[in-house]
Amino acid sequence: MTTSTAQASPNIALIKYWGNRDHFLRIPSNSSLSMNLDGLVSRTQVSFDPGLEADRLTLNEQEIIGPALQRVSVLLERVRGMAGLKQFANVTSSNNFPIGTGIASSASAFAALTVAATAAAGLKLTTQELSRLARTASGSACRSIPAGFVEWQAGQDDADSYAFSIAPPDHWDLGDCIAITSETHKPVGSTEGHTLADSSPLQAARVATTPQRLAQCRRAVLERDFDALADVVELDANMMHAVMITSAPPLLYWQPATLAVMHAVQDWRSSGLPVCYTIDAGPNVHVLCPGEKVDLVAARLRQIPGVNDVLTAHPGGGAHCLPAC
Ligand code: DP6
Repeated sequence: MTTSTAQASPNIALIKYWGNRDHFLRIPSNSSLSMNLDGLVSRTQVSFDPGLEADRLTLNEQEIIGPALQRVSVLLERVRGMAGLKQFANVTSSNNFPIGTGIASSASAFAALTVAATAAAGLKLTTQELSRLARTASGSACRSIPAGFVEWQAGQDDADSYAFSIAPPDHWDLGDCIAITSETHKPVGSTEGHTLADSSPLQAARVATTPQRLAQCRRAVLERDFDALADVVELDANMMHAVMITSAPPLLYWQPATLAVMHAVQDWRSSGLPVCYTIDAGPNVHVLCPGEKVDLVAARLRQIPGVNDVLTAHPGGGAHCLPAC
């Protein structure tokens, strides 16, 4: 029996991934850019065991069956195929943050699973190969493999669709204050959401103009230019939500408290505080600010009615084995 444990952090997309050109392989419609979130972690242990008759998954101390187990098994099948292994695996995973709320738990979960499963299977993969493999399980997971600020080049096919680091975590202390407005599981997950993206008349325009926003965002990150970052990050999130709201059926993830935070952030910025918001496929709001403003921004967010909690994070490292593999 071979066992490995790995840890990965979720990431917040500054330029969003929404829609696939190939849903099976998760070749995205556009490139995206993100930051890993330090302190929030998924930790996953994988043991290939000759005594098992099927894969088993325990998530946050609960045995999981059905579609979630199936999704894990699809990745394990790929790993078995690569390693020439026949044994099923016992997978035990835990998160230290609420899942299914717009904090991308699938990203950290599948990044950690990819690293743990390949290590347990005895494979020695490069960061690029790990990123490609994680991508097939959850698109955004490919961005949780490399460290710090990460770009996912959409590419054309499985071989050239992967993420790479554009700057290490210590390049820029950008803070993320996550205003939790709901901890309930979202009604339509991102996997289903991606299949609806092309039904919006706005998706083609969003995809066509992403390269410009990506270039602006990359430059803002590399030059640590918060004002430039704020403009492009909010524009890109708003464009993704415009696509979501106008798809068939429409996806409206915002709750009243989501809007309250968006208004507050814009007011604070007008009065000189460097903040901006971005929102994934859920009602929570990620409020970005220079690292030294995190405590102030988190305290302000806690005073907004409907904000139940605020998690804070700084730029984080990549997925890795515990101990190193
Ligand atoms: C809105 O990576 O969660 O968070 O590939 O089906 O797992 P799957 O989708 P996922 O989609 C992320 C969508 C997003 C934007 C982003 O993180 O870029």
